[in-house]
Amino acid sequence: GFSWTLPDHPKLPKGKPVAVVVLDGWGEANADQYNCIHVAQTPVMDSLKNGAPEKWRLVKAHGTAVGLPSDDDMGNSEVGHNALGAGRIFAQGAKLVDQALASGKIYEGEGFNYIKESFENGTLHLIGLLSDGGVHSRLDQLQLLLKGASERGAKRIRVHILTDGRDVLDGSSVGFVETLENDLSQLRGKGIDAQIASGGGRMYVTMDRYENDWDVVKRGWDAQVLGEAPYKFKSALEAVKILRAEPNANDQYLPPFVIVDDSGKPVGPVLDGDAVVTINFRADRMVMLAKALEYADFDKFDRVRVPKIRYAGMLQYDGELKLPSIYLVSPPEIGRTSGEYLVKNGIRTFACSETVKFGHVTFFWNGNRSGYFDETKEEYVEVPSDSGITFNVAPKMKALEIAEKARDALLSGKFDQVRVNLPNGDMVGHTGDIEATVVACKAADEAVKIILDAVEQVGGIYLVTADHGNAEDMVKRNKSGKPLLDKNGGIQILTSHTLQPVPVAIGGPGLHLGVKFRTDIQTPGLANVAATVMNLHGFEAPSDYETTLIEVADN
Ligand code: 3PG
Ligand code: CO
Repeated sequence: GFSWTLPDHPKLPKGKPVAVVVLDGWGEANADQYNCIHVAQTPVMDSLKNGAPEKWRLVKAHGTAVGLPSDDDMGNSEVGHNALGAGRIFAQGAKLVDQALASGKIYEGEGFNYIKESFENGTLHLIGLLSDGGVHSRLDQLQLLLKGASERGAKRIRVHILTDGRDVLDGSSVGFVETLENDLSQLRGKGIDAQIASGGGRMYVTMDRYENDWDVVKRGWDAQVLGEAPYKFKSALEAVKILRAEPNANDQYLPPFVIVDDSGKPVGPVLDGDAVVTINFRADRMVMLAKALEYADFDKFDRVRVPKIRYAGMLQYDGELKLPSIYLVSPPEIGRTSGEYLVKNGIRTFACSETVKFGHVTFFWNGNRSGYFDETKEEYVEVPSDSGITFNVAPKMKALEIAEKARDALLSGKFDQVRVNLPNGDMVGHTGDIEATVVACKAADEAVKIILDAVEQVGGIYLVTADHGNAEDMVKRNKSGKPLLDKNGGIQILTSHTLQPVPVAIGGPGLHLGVKFRTDIQTPGLANVAATVMNLHGFEAPSDYETTLIEVADN
């Protein structure tokens, strides 16, 4: 039968504290001026890279290696941390929704049948991120859902868009709105009353995460549900064009707007009897809105009016909270994660990041599960992030504080595993500010130093890795790698993640001298890290885990 007990590793000892450091958005790419990791002073990460070749290597962090539909899909933190923690590759939300749409199963499920009840007398509202980034949502899935719902009786449809500029180029919002407007006008040609009803930039409207700033969600609620916003336009295309013409405008931060009819009335507030679908498949930035839409008791902001709706998520966003309770596609079920195994085998675990990535190193790491497996053996610490700013103005973020918490946890002797996420490369990389991203990378490197020094002091082991690329490439390139220019001759800044591989480095005084990276694994990826970490704790990984990256020479 099944047992949580992990076999002893035949050669590696137990009892050495292991520091697992995840540098968020830290890929490996050619050294040039747009590679902020290269430009920044990063002596610690450099020394790992330039040290023994059997202690540093690259692994795949995107596409099929992390359960995404194809190798054209860049990595992201959700799928990256899932793979790191779970040690296996699960088909992720993006792919599960693709499959459900392609097979038509999405329309047979409980979720769709539930919202369909509203089609006769109510409006179908679709709320979510409008882009083809494939991290939180995908345009083609929205298009298919619009088609499928209208063919199945939806007569009045309102789309509430969130512009991206973070997983895709800034400025691309205009093209996505054009595409959507075109689709909606075709639906109108078929007699369906379909239009965009509201919008706003994802980082300013709706898509906050980990309860960093509820005002973001409130701004969205006001526009989407109440039909109230500081800006009113006759069309969404006009809205994004005019709002983008403001100085320093940015797709990520467009202010909320509503679309109004000729008499100035909002065209699509959410009313009693309507159906609402949040079209994002990724959880972290939809959970807060899902709570506002679903919970009867809710005190995070004044909702003013709470319409009686039929609400479904594209996916269920939180399996513990069963939120939302109704959804169109079942999320991946990620059980038996390395975190759970290790805790059940006595590994006392400390995990820490700052707010913006706290859920990544806990919830995502643990297979989309909140809370502790065993609170007597675990401590998760969240360092509050700066809120209400873009991280290019404070690019060091809380790296130092996180490193000090990790150091203290190591020195306390109370933990066997100390795990952190250092968000700088990613969060600052997403702002597209190259100078600030250089500062961010240096700060992350300094944090690694603090942690590795503590590992040295306690005779421990470290494994340093990353969840996906970002800061190592800040420019959009053509196929042959040449930077692309915009209309004005400037470079096209790449705010998104990349397809680059990420490093894995191991070492520390506690590492058995014979340990080295194997050379016989075909294109290993992030999912191979979990078995590796289990080995470093002195255990063999379960047999269905992706294989370990290390072997132990006899010497
Ligand atoms: C975000 O949500 O900030 C980006 O879309 C993806 O970033 P992450 O995967 O690094 O969180
Ligand atoms: Co990111």
